[in-house]
Amino acid sequence: MTARILDGVGLSLKLNGETVDRCAALTQAGVQPGLAAVLVGDNPASRTYVTSKSKMCVRLGLRTEVLSLPEHATTLDLLGVIKTLNVRTNIHGILVQMPLPPQIDVPTVIEAIDPAKDVDGFHPVSVGRLALKQAGFVPCTPAGILELLKLYCIPLRGQRVVVLGRSNIVGLPLSLLLLHQDATVTVCHSHTKEVAAIARSADVLIAAIGKTAFVTEDFIKPGAVVVDVGINRITTREQVLEYFGDNAERLADLEKKGYTLIGDVHPRHAAERARYVTPVPGGVGPLTIAMLMRNTVVAAERAYA
Ligand code: GUN
Repeated sequence: MTARILDGVGLSLKLNGETVDRCAALTQAGVQPGLAAVLVGDNPASRTYVTSKSKMCVRLGLRTEVLSLPEHATTLDLLGVIKTLNVRTNIHGILVQMPLPPQIDVPTVIEAIDPAKDVDGFHPVSVGRLALKQAGFVPCTPAGILELLKLYCIPLRGQRVVVLGRSNIVGLPLSLLLLHQDATVTVCHSHTKEVAAIARSADVLIAAIGKTAFVTEDFIKPGAVVVDVGINRITTREQVLEYFGDNAERLADLEKKGYTLIGDVHPRHAAERARYVTPVPGGVGPLTIAMLMRNTVVAAERAYA
């Protein structure tokens, strides 16, 4: 079996097209949607993600601001920035890029964000609304995954779904969303015993643990749908050959950048056993940004209404 690709890039183009139209309509009415991204310290991956998000704002017609704080910033510093953003009428969405340095009290920071501007869906009010199936902001990566499964008509009702990972950003909210779709959901984590056997029972398997190619063939039921949320780097030719085979494109990528991206799923094993798989890059990643843009426009629409 050669797995079919669940194309996140294609879906993100469609979603972004809709966002452009909604954003243009609001801007015409005098309210240009605005997103503020708060970045603390100089984690290179976080800086790359924030840059991608603000570039996408510009492409789709949203206003964007990046507020950078030094690595040694305190919780109080961050609370001050958020307080200002909460009352600014030209900012409709606030995102604080995770992870934050260890001295920062993350729950206090997230709680300080006005839930009406919580476009990441991390505030306890948003999480509570999601748990209770009420309207509110849904975290972007889980929301994007649901859109992708819907586009490809992957059934969820009554299906066995296994989520590897229970993070506040992906695993936990995604398991709630899947439950609301009437899936039978099992969440595995670092203390779970016999993970491979549980994963192998899944009709739909979601990997969100941040470990390079953790999901190997023994985790995948033949014909399963596999969603790979991981974004990891590999840096050697041997790794490329092991995970991708003699793949000219990947070897060229490695040559050019010194690394190539890989998810939490072993790509060759998934290609051989799964029915559908999300590629890395080009699967879940572009959808996360697309949903953030959509949430920001929704926040602006609600502020305008
Ligand atoms: N770090 C990893 N994913 C995310 C995300 O979706 N939002 C924020 N704010 N930080 C992240």
